[in-house]
Amino acid sequence: MTDSDTLIATAKAMVAPGKGILAADESIKTCTKRFAEFGIESTETSRRDYREMMFRAPGVGEYVSGAILYDETIRQNAADGSRIVDVLKDAGVLPGIKVDTGAKPLAGAPGETITEGLDGLRDRLAEYREIGARFTKWRAVLSVSDEMPSRYCIETNAHALGRYAALAQEAGLVPIVEPEVLMIGNHDVQRCRAVTEQALQTTFEQMSAQRVLLEGIVLKPNMVISGSDCPRQATSDEIAELTLSTLREFVPPEVPGIAFLSGGQTGEEACTNLDAMVRRGGLPWELTYSFGRALQYPSLEIWGGSNVAEAQAALLHRARMSSLARSGRYSAGEERAAV
Ligand code: 13P
Repeated sequence: MTDSDTLIATAKAMVAPGKGILAADESIKTCTKRFAEFGIESTETSRRDYREMMFRAPGVGEYVSGAILYDETIRQNAADGSRIVDVLKDAGVLPGIKVDTGAKPLAGAPGETITEGLDGLRDRLAEYREIGARFTKWRAVLSVSDEMPSRYCIETNAHALGRYAALAQEAGLVPIVEPEVLMIGNHDVQRCRAVTEQALQTTFEQMSAQRVLLEGIVLKPNMVISGSDCPRQATSDEIAELTLSTLREFVPPEVPGIAFLSGGQTGEEACTNLDAMVRRGGLPWELTYSFGRALQYPSLEIWGGSNVAEAQAALLHRARMSSLARSGRYSAGEERAAV
């Protein structure tokens, strides 16, 4: 296989029918914050135990094609001494790695951020590949207000996404390209749509300028939804309609798959919306999930530091629901089935 063939095959496997991606790449700071919500102490070992609980959930590979890890996790061993990347491989799950180093204040643009991590990236990618990673993630963050995001913020972040994606492919790793329009705010769904359009258009312009092989990426966008404080929340029909028309306009058909982030939606909301899109059918790309919170909650709460079997059941329930949604077969009845 040529290098391009390998990238294409990996990207296809990541968005294979019935499957989606488990985002478990919270930084130590974010993981500590999530643990604190449920009174769980955050240590290197507790973070490892939590991730190991998810990766060892029986049959998780039936619904999950790949798991995105954080730097700490990809280097860790499981409790029995085997490497975490091998636990994933045994489960039939591709190991992935978040390679950005976070969203930092954007110079001269109060309230806006630029995602960093390009310095030394080529060497880090080579090391991650050696450890066993098959794909990568980089998340750009766009906040929404009347003035934000600025063109400056959209363009600098898209340029960085392009540079990252080209370097990841050079290293033989599929880039997940994530330009996230945040749902925090009181903006309406049309404003989210307008910002999402600009973000996608600029990101694809940059990927094309930087010679990224579109067949060898996975796009991870937000759904087009109302701001969390908007008094009028769009229905799932509206969300499906607006999200799909935006994606149709700006995402080239060469892209093998689109894996949505959940962005603060509950698992049920995210599944309802994904299901509504898939049911419309006739799309040139696979549509699936790359959920973090929408897969991990309420498993994290149930785990609480030690309830492994119950927490695995809760994770598998959300994973099965997400799999049904990405197949257009999700329903309230399935949701109520015993966890
Ligand atoms: P959420 O699904 O919780 O938004 O997380 C997905 C993710 O990886 C964000 O970068």
